[in-house]
Amino acid sequence: MSRVRFPDGFHWGSATASYQIEGAWDADGKGESIWDRFAHTPGRVRNGDTGDVACDSYRRWRDDIALMKGLGHTSYRFSIAWPRIQPAGKGAPNSKGLEHYGRLVDALLAAGIRPLPTLYHWDLPQALEDDGGWPNRDLAGRFADYAEIVTKALGDRVKHWILLNEPAIFTTIGYLAGHHAPGRKSRDDFLRATHTVNLAQGLSFRAVKSVHPNACVGTAFSMSPCEPESDDAADAAAAERWHAFFNDWYLSTALRGRYPDAFVSGPPLDRMDVRDGDMDLVRAELDFIGINLYTRTIVRAQPRDPNLGATPVGSARDGQGPRTDFGWEVWPDSLHEMVLRVTKDYGPRPIEITENGCSYADGPDANGTVRDERRIDFLRGYLGALARAIEAGADVRGYHAWSLLDNFEWAEGMAQRFGLVHVDFASQKRTIKESGRWYARVAAENGFDG
Ligand code: FCB
Repeated sequence: MSRVRFPDGFHWGSATASYQIEGAWDADGKGESIWDRFAHTPGRVRNGDTGDVACDSYRRWRDDIALMKGLGHTSYRFSIAWPRIQPAGKGAPNSKGLEHYGRLVDALLAAGIRPLPTLYHWDLPQALEDDGGWPNRDLAGRFADYAEIVTKALGDRVKHWILLNEPAIFTTIGYLAGHHAPGRKSRDDFLRATHTVNLAQGLSFRAVKSVHPNACVGTAFSMSPCEPESDDAADAAAAERWHAFFNDWYLSTALRGRYPDAFVSGPPLDRMDVRDGDMDLVRAELDFIGINLYTRTIVRAQPRDPNLGATPVGSARDGQGPRTDFGWEVWPDSLHEMVLRVTKDYGPRPIEITENGCSYADGPDANGTVRDERRIDFLRGYLGALARAIEAGADVRGYHAWSLLDNFEWAEGMAQRFGLVHVDFASQKRTIKESGRWYARVAAENGFDG
């Protein structure tokens, strides 16, 4: 056994998102979001679950901050619900919404916890979807306006911002696959959405900086190292294209001002509606790179596919890592590999692990203890892999476990439990899991015996 250590000042935290935990879906002047509409549509979410109540954190946030403080967390990644701030996605702000997040930020600071808000974690105001949603490039400017409003209200106290959560996921699953809100299935809508979101990232970055030039601004990118299925050169090339598309489509634009080489015949700029001057607008010299990572992706060449010429065949190789209850493979090396790849490709830059975690259904036993040993094993593995990446030169500043609480897991409803803290959704009782206690010790000691 050897000691796994983290750098001094490393941030230990957890992450949540507004729609997944807040509930109070129509309180205090909040507008409808695309997730309200989607979840209220029969057949969209498993068991008909909705985020109407979720963890009721819009009302119980004081308890949740007390939990984090008790567990020694020093950073909290939460998201701001755009429809609480601008109920219809445009126009004057709703002061009650801003006041709510102002109180939350003040209480976090008083508890010694760094607030790390995300401006967009998927709950688009429905009114903007009615205007065309992310495929409509006007949304880029709307998002920048909203970013400016929030920065003006909170930027005296919030120093670190995340613009977008997982742009690759919400565009793909929301507009191409249709499994997430708004549930569209259109390749052209999807392609245009990816470009609007890139514009939104660039414009909102500048909006935040125009109010507070010293703010630290990043995005939380969904990332997964792409491995070729075989030794075949065609699979290797396909894995690289898949990497370019899923890991780099919103990062290369920001940091290099160009779309990466994901498409066999180059990016379909016309179908994406890329116009003159856009590639300057998408640029954003991000102050840190946020990485959300769960597992790896195995990729196979697909010569008949004229787009990426590649297809993912899963997140695991048969018989290798164990699976979580979501079916995702536990593969700690994926975090090590991805952090080093980003470091190699973009130079040593500050990185924040903005999400990492696992779904296991373990609940309280007869004594009320939640013995989620498998989550402890998961954390031990991934944190060990992260420490190795730091040793190898990566500049990682913090780690956020997904999630603080069991919560509304999108199309899976309440069926997947990712929390360090168990939530009984009928009574809203919170119970710290054994993994939550283990993680608290790691935070207190800034390391563990590996
Ligand atoms: C990520 C999302 C987050 C959560 C986890 C499990 O893709 O950003 O909201 O649902 O997956």
